[in-house]
Amino acid sequence: MGTLTTTAFQRRAIPLDLSDVFYVMRADLERVEQRLREEANVDYPIVGEIVDNLIGAGGKRLRPLLLLLSAKPFDYDLDELIPAAAGVELLHNASLIHDDTVDHADVRRGQPTLNSLLPPETVILLGDYLFARSAMLAAATMNPRVVGVFASTLAKICDGQLSEVFAAHQTEQTIDDYKRRIYGKTASLFAGSAEMGAIIGQAPGDQIEAMSQFGGDVGMAFQIIDDVLDLRESTDAIGKPAGLDLRQGTVTLPTMLFFERNTMNGHYAELISRVIDGNEISDSDYNDAVQVIRESGALEASIEVAEEYVEHARNILRGLPPGEATDMLEALAMESLSRTH
Ligand code: IPE
Ligand code: IPE
Ligand code: MG
Ligand code: MG
Repeated sequence: MGTLTTTAFQRRAIPLDLSDVFYVMRADLERVEQRLREEANVDYPIVGEIVDNLIGAGGKRLRPLLLLLSAKPFDYDLDELIPAAAGVELLHNASLIHDDTVDHADVRRGQPTLNSLLPPETVILLGDYLFARSAMLAAATMNPRVVGVFASTLAKICDGQLSEVFAAHQTEQTIDDYKRRIYGKTASLFAGSAEMGAIIGQAPGDQIEAMSQFGGDVGMAFQIIDDVLDLRESTDAIGKPAGLDLRQGTVTLPTMLFFERNTMNGHYAELISRVIDGNEISDSDYNDAVQVIRESGALEASIEVAEEYVEHARNILRGLPPGEATDMLEALAMESLSRTH
């Protein structure tokens, strides 16, 4: 397998596809999956099954993949790497459970959410339990630096989610406010995953920092594209409720860029402001609001911002040891732009 892969990489004329990366990494990812399922085991009837279904329902597993790839150019111990990778995926799943409860979302990964099946008190406690189990996975690395990054990442995610709650329904926000918020809630876990991988790989300090920056940039692009998909796609396509951001008054980059580009269009700007304010509006007015954002060029302009982050991320890779691992990291960066769900 090793030689075959190397040959395939050497012959490669076009960038790798992410499915190739998953193929190359499948043995390690299977171990991560096994560890994740063991740790996320909830020993109560029905509830245990519901949690198991969510975790097995086809998440993309990008964060553990990023963590594994960030160690790969260096010298790592797989027994440290596997629990760390399982830990970041479990942390992500726990944050989705709380996020869907806060957002009153009824579908995730194409399946009913925990909060649509169980009382909210139970769901919050289950989320807490899984956060705690994810921390145990970080602790299982026996690496205090990894535990430190894990803990500070968890704090950043919670802070990002809190700031989103407090910023809801406010039209007076800057793009910098938005960027700070999405760094906290999403990009920090990509940065942390990459940093933990490089720490476990005992990379030199500047390369740990570079890996963390790379992850952060990919995470920023990832969330900007998520915000585009929310306005552009259907619920069926993304497996979670489409259009929810606007409906719940969360101001995202496409909406901000719509306002920047449409200072002249008073009628629709006023309609969208009313949606963000949380006023009751008819379904047809709401659909008009989404349509107008789609047609304004704001989605394309948002994608350009995401592309700049990925360009920056790819430049960072040039300062890392060249080879198979950095090629795979590049494929992961590109996926944050081309993903469809
Ligand atoms: C969803 O993350 C939450 C965001 C940060 C946008 P993913 O899109 O990685 O979710 P799964 O794990 O693949 O379902
Ligand atoms: C990411 O933001 C939330 C988390 C960090 C858990 P979103 O609210 O956009 O994520 P989705 O769209 O529900 O997956
Ligand atoms: Mg959400
Ligand atoms: Mg979203």
